[in-house]
Amino acid sequence: MKICVCGGAGYIGSHTVLELLKAGHDVFVIDNLSTGSQEFLFDEARFYEADCTDQTAMDRVFEIENDESPVDAVMHFAAKLIVNESVSMPLDYYYNNVFGVISLIQSMRKANIKTLIFSSTAAAYGDHPTGFCEENDVCLPINPYGNSKLAAEMVIKDSAKAYGLNTCIFRYFNVAGAHPSLRLGLDKSTLTHIVPITVMAALKQRSHVTIFGDDYPTDDGTCIRDYIHVSDLAYAHVLGLEYTHKHQSNEVFNLGSSHGYSVKQVVDEVKKIAPLEVQMGERREGDPAKLIAVSKKANELLQWTPKYSLADIVKTDYDFRAKRLKQ
Ligand SMILES: NC(=O)c1ccc[n+]([C@@H]2O[C@H](COP(=O)([O-])OP(=O)(O)OC[C@H]3O[C@@H](n4cnc5c(N)ncnc54)[C@H](O)[C@@H]3O)[C@@H](O)[C@H]2O)c1
Repeated sequence: MKICVCGGAGYIGSHTVLELLKAGHDVFVIDNLSTGSQEFLFDEARFYEADCTDQTAMDRVFEIENDESPVDAVMHFAAKLIVNESVSMPLDYYYNNVFGVISLIQSMRKANIKTLIFSSTAAAYGDHPTGFCEENDVCLPINPYGNSKLAAEMVIKDSAKAYGLNTCIFRYFNVAGAHPSLRLGLDKSTLTHIVPITVMAALKQRSHVTIFGDDYPTDDGTCIRDYIHVSDLAYAHVLGLEYTHKHQSNEVFNLGSSHGYSVKQVVDEVKKIAPLEVQMGERREGDPAKLIAVSKKANELLQWTPKYSLADIVKTDYDFRAKRLKQ
């Protein structure tokens, strides 16, 4: 199939481009390079520097690509995703993450592209009452980032009904790790996730890591999250694309490992590779005690099973950063 990957120069988008190429698909990338990098592009996937909120530019790219052979699907990764930033700049988040989707769907309609695969987030669930999230549970996000992604989901669901689109919405849990080849990984100046921050402390790129709160109602008192390796996540997109195209369906899937690990367990996993300094801090506002994906639906319908462990996630992120330090 011919696939447009919007946001394909970013962390998850670039891993997905690689999986799509491996599966034999014809791929082109659209990205404005705001947080993505040209370094993560592939010669085998054509690249257009454009912003998905710019309908004229998007129309033009789809025209060029449709001219040779029809575009079958769009995968939409392009978004702003830093929670703290979304609190101080909500309009930027709604503009990019919600208007970006509206604009993209308008261009898709003009270009007669019927299939859309969308990156959503566990943040859509908010402070979940049990901590075990299922796709049909009530979504009550607790920050503008989560709100913007849930609003985008609504735009997609309503558009699917009205315009006959086939759609697949993936709600990712904590995505981490690097491609085992170390060609791709998470390389940003503004990192907020526990795995890369702890690895950076182990590599002495940071003085320490802070654990925010050790009095949660969990076994060791620290928050529990579900970690998924980025390559497992990327492969789920290949399966989701094939499923959505074949069944002409509109589905929402959680993508997580269905296992929870505490922040302390993550830190201990990194400590197995190298020592690091850990400091204890106060709880952060809006951090739920536990968030774990129930990924049964993706396991059953897509035949998707993650193959990488927490140890693999930590090791690949460590090796990726260590390699770049040497360069
Ligand atoms: N990383 C995570 O842990 C995580 C968790 C849940 C959901 N997600 C979702 O996954 C998607 C990808 O996240 P990521 O971690 O790869 O982020 P990323 O910042 O690495 O990738 C986003 C890419 O989109 C591009 N982009 C942003 N706005 C654009 C626009 N208006 N037009 C064109 N390109 C634009 C950026 O340049 C970048 O290459 C996002 O939609 C995010 O909400 C990520």
